Amino acid sequence: MTADQIREYLEPRRHEFADPRSLVLPALKFAQTGRGYLTREDMEAVAEATGYSASYVESVATFYDRVYTEPVGTRVVSVCVSMSCQLRGADQVWEALCDKEGVDHHHGGTSADGRITVQEAQCLGYCDRAACIQVDAEETQGPHTPDSARALVDELRAAPDPDEYWR
Ligand code: FES
Repeated sequence: MTADQIREYLEPRRHEFADPRSLVLPALKFAQTGRGYLTREDMEAVAEATGYSASYVESVATFYDRVYTEPVGTRVVSVCVSMSCQLRGADQVWEALCDKEGVDHHHGGTSADGRITVQEAQCLGYCDRAACIQVDAEETQGPHTPDSARALVDELRAAPDPDEYWR
């Protein structure tokens, strides 16, 4: 992603943000649509396009859990581990997905085939449907059980890859 492409994306949106620093996050999310994560060059392009320093841009990129500075799977499955979901079986959902995808039970991770990343999320605002899962930071769904969560990743694995990675 180039600085010019990012400027072109931001231009019609500038009026939506009273504080120009708020442009950095949408710029980062746009910059990761191509491959699903940001390279150092992408972050430098965001810095150039927004006029903020590379270190400031990197601090924003590493703060948010849906901005990725390392490769992630084709599909990202976020399991809510906050209180309401905990009370409705989030631990069991998390364990089931980590087992199924063969990833670390403490930190999650990406399956060996690179298709599915399992990560923790804090409250997704869907507490009345706990236990919840969000796919690609777009679609939140629940209530999930270990079985329904396993079925979900089977469906994701069978589906065509997204054209763009809006995470
Ligand atoms: S606690 Fe899980 S969606 Fe709110």
